[in-house]
Amino acid sequence: MAEASVVSSSEEPEERAIEAALRPKFLDEFVGQARVRRQLSLVLEASRLRGRTADHVLLSGPPGLGKTTLSMIIASEMNAPLRISSGPAIQHAGDLAAILSSLSEGEVLFLDEIHRMSRPAEEMLYMAMEDFRVDIVVGKGAGATAIPLELPPFTLVGATTRAGLLPGPLRDRFGFTGHLEFYSVAELELVLRRSAGLLDLKVTSAGFSEVAGRSRGTPRIANRLLRRVRDWALVHGIEQIDARAAAAALDMYEVDAKGLDRLDRSVLTALASKFGGGPVGLSTLAIAVGEEPETVETVAEPYLVREGLMGRTPRGRIATPAAYAHLGLAVPAGAPFAEAALFGPGSEGTDAPLADADDDVG
Ligand SMILES: Nc1ncnc2c1ncn2[C@@H]1O[C@H](COP(=O)(O)OP(=O)(O)OP(=O)(O)O)[C@@H](O)[C@H]1O
Ligand SMILES: [Mg+2]
Repeated sequence: MAEASVVSSSEEPEERAIEAALRPKFLDEFVGQARVRRQLSLVLEASRLRGRTADHVLLSGPPGLGKTTLSMIIASEMNAPLRISSGPAIQHAGDLAAILSSLSEGEVLFLDEIHRMSRPAEEMLYMAMEDFRVDIVVGKGAGATAIPLELPPFTLVGATTRAGLLPGPLRDRFGFTGHLEFYSVAELELVLRRSAGLLDLKVTSAGFSEVAGRSRGTPRIANRLLRRVRDWALVHGIEQIDARAAAAALDMYEVDAKGLDRLDRSVLTALASKFGGGPVGLSTLAIAVGEEPETVETVAEPYLVREGLMGRTPRGRIATPAAYAHLGLAVPAGAPFAEAALFGPGSEGTDAPLADADDDVG
């Protein structure tokens, strides 16, 4: 496996401790996501007023936007203990039964990657969520008996990066669903300001915007880039990080002004110049940059499409006018922009199979 990119949105194992240190503990320290924050605060306030445990909460959205953070905030706002587990860790109904039967009253149970739970465990969870009860099956075959077990009321907080994979019955049992969106540059500046305070770093406003603009709408990436900039400043003996220092540091890590890394840029450059803007098939494009098609498709493409730099059309991938502007290249005659308007950003959400133009290209 290649080394993870500095702009990858997934959490690196060695980052866990530092991420934990930067996590906001209460709702009013949680930056951005105004809608989710407002709705969630209402859910929690209402349950406090009723003196009941809060409704079950489902948090969905791409990696690094704050799902785990919010689940911890829910527990601390409710002044409740927090139990953490995850879908992949619960492969048998018995695993879930063990967790559920040891919950205390009002406890918050956080199930990360809830879409990856096994089927039997999922079915047990339905009943637990609805009636605070599970049936523990003892024995096998004809002699098996179900022993009903009452559970104390608890709040389930489920997190998923793939809400679409959750079965309807499970989704319906959550009283509140919060969908996290990518953060604006202004919101990321606030995230960075807070982190810089905790890390005791001096950064100018322009320095914050420089880092925020390269963070792909993701707090996890923003915090990681801030740490890279901090290292750079330390080595260069710079006390106050301004826009120039931040830019120089991140250029060194090959994260450009839009947050593209080396792979993103080479894919985009190949598409724009070698293939005249496309359309070109995924495998051809992958060969041109010396990567596996899967890497190009899952690592580079989503962000390029989201940023409107690349379009996916039935005949293959195309570069958009924004791609040429970003790369500082002249637009070639006959670039397929008309199609970009039709299949540009937004088309990534559709799961319709895209024909691959590779066969034509040879
Ligand atoms: N709204 C926010 N304000 C401040 N910091 C945030 C915010 N959201 C996330 N962060 C920071 O980003 C980091 C990643 O957030 P978190 O672990 O909650 O993401 P996640 O959605 O659970 O990601 P994954 O899908 O990979 O589990 C945390 O360390 C936290 O400090
Ligand atoms: Mg998480």
